[in-house]
Amino acid sequence: MSQAPVITIDGPSGTGKGTIARKLADFLGWHFLDSGALYRIVAVGAQEKEILLNDIKGLRRFSEAMKVAFSQDFEDSISLNGKEISSQVRLEETAEKASLVAAIPEIRSALLKKQLIFRQNPGLVADGRDMGTVVFPDAELKFYLTASPEERAQRRYKQLINKGVNVNLRALLKDIASRDERDTNRKVSPLRPADDAVVIDTTSLTIEQVLNRVLAEVKTTFPVTT
Ligand code: C5P
Repeated sequence: MSQAPVITIDGPSGTGKGTIARKLADFLGWHFLDSGALYRIVAVGAQEKEILLNDIKGLRRFSEAMKVAFSQDFEDSISLNGKEISSQVRLEETAEKASLVAAIPEIRSALLKKQLIFRQNPGLVADGRDMGTVVFPDAELKFYLTASPEERAQRRYKQLINKGVNVNLRALLKDIASRDERDTNRKVSPLRPADDAVVIDTTSLTIEQVLNRVLAEVKTTFPVTT
């Protein structure tokens, strides 16, 4: 039996890829994978279980055994071993720890298996850093979204301020730059576009404009579904 089709959307944070991926999954009626959430969940779980980030064995055991559940739209509710943890998952400090956890090869391979399970009919839209390069290299369509670091920091700043979180733009830009550096230069699954990815620079584009570009490609690749 042939495998379910996959569309991958990779890129650094603040490019709008999460929003675009969700909208696309919704439009197509496909499943959605927010792979970054899995790395964030390991970071939250490690903190709760008091597993140090240099305890690779402990982290691996935890990552393999953890029971994760996402609500239908993936955004609202995330539970870890039956406990609701979505607000901790979305914190900036969790993103920082997730990026440390994500550089550990043992954790990446433990989470790889969990990510592959999301590939189910009628199809999957997968959002992350290595969806097109490592996790779903045979995906039918791959996107890589970019934007300048300043624009990405601005977007994140607005998002956090709207949520009532008090943040400093300059500190945010520094955090984003250091996470980019770590994600791009790590030995395993570094952040980079797949050779066959459609690259879109979103710096001066609205979400709607990016979505239109993405949909145009999707309609060419999947004329029947759309
Ligand atoms: O996308 P998000 O900000 O939730 O990702 C948090 C961190 O998880 C990233 O900075 C990156 O280090 C890691 N990550 C990864 N591979 C993925 C998704 C996320 O390494 N596929």
